[in-house]
Amino acid sequence: MQVFDTVAGLQAHLAPLRPTQTIGLVPTMGALHAGHLALVAQARAECACVVASIFVNPTQFNNPADLKHYPRTLAADLALLQTAGCQVVFAPTEAEMYPHPPTLQLAFGELEQRLEGAHRPGHFNGVGLVVSKLFHQVQPHVAYFGQKDLQQCLVVQQLVRDLAFPLQLRRCPTVREADGLAMSSRNRRLGPAERLVAPRLHQSLQQVVQNVQQGSPVAQAVAQARAWLEQSGPFTVEYLEVADTEQLRPVAQLAAGQTYAVLAAAQLGPVRLIDNVLFQAGG
Ligand code: PAF
Repeated sequence: MQVFDTVAGLQAHLAPLRPTQTIGLVPTMGALHAGHLALVAQARAECACVVASIFVNPTQFNNPADLKHYPRTLAADLALLQTAGCQVVFAPTEAEMYPHPPTLQLAFGELEQRLEGAHRPGHFNGVGLVVSKLFHQVQPHVAYFGQKDLQQCLVVQQLVRDLAFPLQLRRCPTVREADGLAMSSRNRRLGPAERLVAPRLHQSLQQVVQNVQQGSPVAQAVAQARAWLEQSGPFTVEYLEVADTEQLRPVAQLAAGQTYAVLAAAQLGPVRLIDNVLFQAGG
């Protein structure tokens, strides 16, 4: 496995491979877990050369404490990537990634007005900036993102369409702990008591799906699940909504056969958890 911390080194390595090898990019912020490794595994299955990037991107953090405490575990990450069969790692410094303070402002229309966008001002501008840079630097044929960040997947899809990046996107399923908690680098900051109740976020999403499938109105199912979650642990719920899967517009009534997402974000102790599940409305 080759590790680069400069764009020049990375590009010198990739340029001769690109004409004959499919290059897959797995962008990460490090603190890797089985969810990231599943992205690497899918990339390995489809691409001759897998590049993982590790960069804690300051421009996408709206909360300075979150940026400060974001876990940084480069040595362990490299060992995991090596075992996973990743061929190339790009782990730039902040100065390498942002030699000049960025001035570009990316807007993603109504998609970024809701959910994560509404609660994390500037977040998707930062994601769009860094992902665009990575796409230019790595020039992958395929890029892999996890469905746990569903809104991010949709924002990146819009970015690729609007800026005509010549690559394919793959959205990979959320990987969960045995108790249902969606894997996240931030989970390691949960205390033991918080970790015990953390899976209830996922359970609240499942409750919504179950209740609407049994005929409850969406608003009632959401209100019940939200109340249950807030009573079942020290969760501060930021949002819990049923939405369409294109623009994440809130949905009040379901059409049989259509696919919807139920999405939630909640603060639990020092950690902000997000999760979502997709479901198809019954008849
Ligand atoms: O999902 C993440 O880890 C980050 O948002 C990403 C895509 C690596 C951009 O910094």
